Amino acid sequence: MESYNIAVIPGDGTGPEVIREGIKVLDAISARFGIKFNFDYYDFGGSRYLKTGEVLPDGAIDELKKYAAIYLGAIGHPDVKPGILEKGILLRLRFELDQYINLRPVKLYPGVDCPLKNKKPEDIDFIVVRENTEGLYAGAGGVLKKGTPDEVAIQESINTRKGVERCIRFAYEFCRKRSKAKKLTLCGKTNVLTYAFDLWERTFYEVAKEYPDIKVDYAHVDAITMWFVKNPEWFDVIVTDNMFGDIITDLGAMIQGGMGIAAGGNINPQGVSMFEPIGGSAPKYTGKNVVNPLAAICAGGMMLEQIGEDKAGKLVEKAVIEVTGKHLKSQAAGQMGYSTTEVGDLVAKYVNEINSD
Ligand code: IPM
Ligand code: MN
Repeated sequence: MESYNIAVIPGDGTGPEVIREGIKVLDAISARFGIKFNFDYYDFGGSRYLKTGEVLPDGAIDELKKYAAIYLGAIGHPDVKPGILEKGILLRLRFELDQYINLRPVKLYPGVDCPLKNKKPEDIDFIVVRENTEGLYAGAGGVLKKGTPDEVAIQESINTRKGVERCIRFAYEFCRKRSKAKKLTLCGKTNVLTYAFDLWERTFYEVAKEYPDIKVDYAHVDAITMWFVKNPEWFDVIVTDNMFGDIITDLGAMIQGGMGIAAGGNINPQGVSMFEPIGGSAPKYTGKNVVNPLAAICAGGMMLEQIGEDKAGKLVEKAVIEVTGKHLKSQAAGQMGYSTTEVGDLVAKYVNEINSD
């Protein structure tokens, strides 16, 4: 029997509630396909930090490197100053595990309310490949004369040829494998950020020569937010830097029905990847059993595909589509017509029942 060791970090707020449903669905997959998962739980997050003063214990990164994948709920606590947990846990894991791709599908499932007038599931189905270890997130810069009228704050965007090229190559490969419109859009700001995006643009067109089957396209980041709303059907695969990717995928999440359904993967193609719902810890809903677990469940599906269980991953998505198409009234917390646990039960039921081909 195929067996996988998975590290689970439920995290803060509603993270544990949605991860519980994700595990429920993975257990159903396990029964259906005869795959075994060993889940090891880690309590990293705000509560642990408030109790112990420790963000990530020594040795945690090395320990996590031994797993087939990491399944993460949410990081962020209302009583902890912004930045400590985000940088100390989430970004540190992304960087130190060299998860240089953040893969974020934007797909409108049947039955999901779309805020865009007249847009249907066939119009919204693209994926953002966000660079995940560099750019403005690298932490370069500094501050002088803090707290004085002469304060200077510098935050620099780091773009290396190696980092940019491996991200762009991943995007071309992904676009080819996905085999839909076979169109790759570079999202940048070449008209203003003439150092960073010159490197991105040159690399993008150079690598393009190796992918004659892929149509290339470019959009400025400001314009792309307009096209997401006006013509989302134009997009197939989009590649962009860390900051722009962060921003445009929140907009992407909204046009696919909201944070309750948006999943992502932090990918190290040669190492350990980490899968998470892209929304936050939603403190105001914590413990109420009302948030939508579908984003976490879909992240679990992406994790299955990454570890090589493609068929199982596809089945999770099919089961989710049954639930959005036949059951949920809305994707919003408290308005689904079902509780968090009931939505997990429904997905697990379809995983047991539906055709897996
Ligand atoms: C995301 C989040 C994170 C990011 C935060 C929590 C650090 O917004 O995963 O998109 O900016 O990458
Ligand atoms: Mn974000």
